[in-house]
Order: sequence, then C-alpha cells, then structure tokens
Amino acid sequence: MKDPRTNMNDVSKLHMQFKKDFSNLSSLSDLAELQIKYLGRKGVINDLLQSINLPAGEAGKLKSEEKKEFYKKVNDLKTSIKHLIKGKKNELVNTSVGHKYFDITLPGKNFPKGSLHLVTYAIEEISRIFEKIGFIRMSYPEVEWEYFSFDSLNMPKNHPARDDFETFFLDFPENPKYGKMVLTPHTSSGQIREMQRLGKPPIRMINIAKCYRPNWDTTHTPMFHQFEGMVVDKNINITHLKGTIDYFAKQFFGDHREIRLRPFHFQFTEPSFEVDITCGVCNGSGVILGTNEVRTPESNNDSGRARMTNKFKCRVCKSGWLELGGSGMIHPNVLKVGNIDPEIYSGWAFVFGVERVLLMKENLNIDNLRIIYDNDIRFLEQF
Ligand code: DAH
Repeated sequence: MKDPRTNMNDVSKLHMQFKKDFSNLSSLSDLAELQIKYLGRKGVINDLLQSINLPAGEAGKLKSEEKKEFYKKVNDLKTSIKHLIKGKKNELVNTSVGHKYFDITLPGKNFPKGSLHLVTYAIEEISRIFEKIGFIRMSYPEVEWEYFSFDSLNMPKNHPARDDFETFFLDFPENPKYGKMVLTPHTSSGQIREMQRLGKPPIRMINIAKCYRPNWDTTHTPMFHQFEGMVVDKNINITHLKGTIDYFAKQFFGDHREIRLRPFHFQFTEPSFEVDITCGVCNGSGVILGTNEVRTPESNNDSGRARMTNKFKCRVCKSGWLELGGSGMIHPNVLKVGNIDPEIYSGWAFVFGVERVLLMKENLNIDNLRIIYDNDIRFLEQF
C-alpha cells in the first residue's frame, strides 16, 4: 500500500487529468465516453475509492481521519465532475440543433421475439423422431375424396363416420368413382395414396396433417392434427408395431414411459388395438401419495393432530394409463386396393393426435383444448 500522501496526490492528479479531458471535449459522444471513464462502475473514481482498501504493509495504512479526508476529497471531486458533465450536456444538446441526439449510455431496446406455434414445435419433434428410424414424412390433401377417406379403407357406405355430423362434406359435384368431396377427417386417407405413390413396398411413411371434424367443445376443435405411421413390407408383424410405438413413446415422453396395446376394432385394420401409455403424473400406478391431517384420540386441540400419508386416485388418468390413439395390422382388403398382394406383404399403421400428445408431454391438464387455437399470445409465448 502506498503512503497516505500518495493517495491524496492521486486525487489532485485525477482532478488535473479531468480538467484536461474536459477541455478537449467537442461532442456528446465524447462527453458520454468521459462520463463512463470517470463515473462508470469501473471508472477511475471508483478505482481511486477502492485503492485505499488495498492490502499493504502496516506502515502504509491510512489513519481513520486521513481516510475520512481522503473520502471527502474524492466525493467532492465526484460531485464537481457530475456537475460539469451535466452542464456540458445541456450546452451541447442546445447547440447541436439539427443533429439527432443519441445517448449511447442508455440501455438498448429489447424487441419482442416471435416464435413458432406450439403445435408446429410438436410436429417438428415428431418428424425428427420418425425420420431417425427411416420414415419418410408425407402430407396428403386436406380436401379429399370420400373414396380415399372411407371406401378404400374398407369402410361401408353406412359407416357412422360417414355421417355429416362426423365429417365435413363439400358442396361440390360428386365424382362417379371417388364420390363426394370432404375435408379429410383423418390422416388414414394417406394410406392408399402412399401405396399408389410408391407402387410397391417397402413403405415407411409418417403422415402428419390437419384433419377436420364438426366437433367444437372443450376437448375437440373442428381442425386438429394427426400423425399416422405406416409400414408395409415382407414379414411385418405386430412386434414391429409395438417396438416402433415404444421407441416413439420413450423418445417423446421419456425413457420411463411404457406402452400397451389393447384390443379394439377399426374397419381398416385386423387385428386392431388402442394404444395406451403410462401416465406421467402417477408413473403408471394410478395412485398418488398425499398427506392429510387426522385427529389423534389423545386430544381434541390442535396439538392432537397427526399427519398421515394417504393414497389417492390419480386425477389425470384414474387407472395408470392414458390413451394415445389407434393402431393395427392393415386389413388385407386395404392392401389389395393399394395393389399390394396381402399373401406376400403385410403392414401396420397407427394414428395419434398431435395436440393430444403435446398436452400429455407438457403435463398440461388443460380443461379447454380450444385455448391452443385461440391465438392468445399470453398462452402461446410460454412455449
Ligand atoms: N383413422 C382412425 C381415426 O382417426 C384412427 C386409426 C386407427 C388409424 C387405427 C390407423 C389405425 O391407422 O391403424 O379415428
């Protein structure tokens, strides 16, 4: 540490230096730089104030009155520098008529950044997961013929899905072969289109697309998204279906999630299954542990209460499992329509809802699905 007199000398030297710098000023930006140099957080005044605390040999220590005097001198200098800078600023602003004043010491402006819609993020992630294992991403027409949506998928004319409160029919002349025009009610219409596009197996398609159904309530929006996986080749069986869905579930939801196939019925698959996944909240157990307070017999005042751990039914799944979607081995009739010989080839398909898997992944217990498409920026910007 320096001799105390050196510290005092430093203050005078600094004052001289400031006077010199100040007299050389000609612009507002010079002034701003000067302000930072002297008064900034890491400026010379602060340096000087700190110099007094530097560790040093006993001999060099300032006595407390000397310290006081030193601080006073530095603070006086600081006040006078502030004063001079302020005066100069006013003077320069007033004389620089016609020049736009730009204060470089002001913090920058933050412009809000846009982002993709949360459903778009989910679609990108789903595509990446399937592309990694060789699936080709496809999208097929949103306005589709009845033939591709129903007939070709082994769905008879009187199937309830073909009712106009299940499907949107377009006001357009009927085609003798393909029937009426519809807004595609599911991605399964892409199955035959993909078979026709490729001509023959192997097929490994992931079709992610908008679908439309006339439902509008808290759990349905008239437009939603599905993703449909389809594989056709020689010797394809249910284990490949289960393995692929399991791979997806672990990649998308996490390694600890399990899936199961539950027998079901669809017109275009045989056998058919619904796919369930273990609930992320109760980890597949169907129960969650909670604590509640109980009264003990000893006393009826507050100290007579004990905490007890209890099992409660999981409110998200109730059973440990959540439904993901439908799947199955492609019906031979469907393969035939796609010009694929069911004696040589076999295949499977599955469909999950994009919005559904998204909400499940985020553990969002949204009681109104419509919020996703309300375009309320306060909701959307959280993703
Ligand atoms: N297309 C059906 C729907 O939207 C779901 C479905 C079930 C698709 C089983 C499939 C499948 O590919 O194999 O309700």
